[in-house]
Amino acid sequence: MKTIVVFTGAGISAESGLQTFRGDGGLWEGHRVEDVATPEAWARDPALVLEFYNVRRRHVRASQPNAAHSALVDLERAYDVRIVTQNVDDLHERAGSKKVLHLHGEILHSRSTRDPSLTQHLGDRDIALGDTCPLGSQLRPHIVWFGENVPALDEAARIVSQADIFLCVGTSLEVYPANSLIFAAPRRARRIVVNPKVPDLVPADICECIAKTACEGVPELVASLLLAPTNR
Ligand code: APR
Repeated sequence: MKTIVVFTGAGISAESGLQTFRGDGGLWEGHRVEDVATPEAWARDPALVLEFYNVRRRHVRASQPNAAHSALVDLERAYDVRIVTQNVDDLHERAGSKKVLHLHGEILHSRSTRDPSLTQHLGDRDIALGDTCPLGSQLRPHIVWFGENVPALDEAARIVSQADIFLCVGTSLEVYPANSLIFAAPRRARRIVVNPKVPDLVPADICECIAKTACEGVPELVASLLLAPTNR
């Protein structure tokens, strides 16, 4: 069975009603990264940071997986599908994808500020100042902030290096080091990009570019991959 590695970004969840980060109406147009998504912001004003993620978390809970998330689940009928996502939502999992690696954390989980290995699903709860982990330290969102290490990066690079097909959906590729993964696919791999605005960083000579939204482009692509016996 061939391995398809699907690298996703905020664009795959846009048609589920979740804002992307950059571009018109993007999250970073309404908020300064330095105020809400850095260790310095957390040190300066944790209440503001918690509120920012509490609001985002409510939006995630209110959203549903879309046709692109679902099509990637269908692909598992014929391929070993590995999802590597920059998204902190759980829409891939709720759609039914079995192997999902989150590079930038998971918004529905809290994390201990003393021991980063202590994470917990929040259920329907927010995080408030004074909420503590079992060790007694303040809880923070389980999110990789700007300026922090990306602990899952090595594992992601290992997964991408096994790709027969590398599919990149809905990311601007503006954020390092996650964007370096597009270069971690083996030379022999077929590379496909689905994005209505194909990013400049995409090496167009070695990628097939599908300039469509995720909900248009991904189901069409999946249908063709499931039909094409040469891809198996
Ligand atoms: N379908 C597919 N792609 C879309 C759609 C759509 N319906 N709508 C927008 N896009 C594309 C945009 O063209 C853009 O290239 O999705 C991309 C979104 O880019 P960003 O907002 O930069 O999101 P992302 O690449 O996931 O950001 C990476 O930045 O702030 C951080 O940690 C955050 O994980 C995030 C990282």
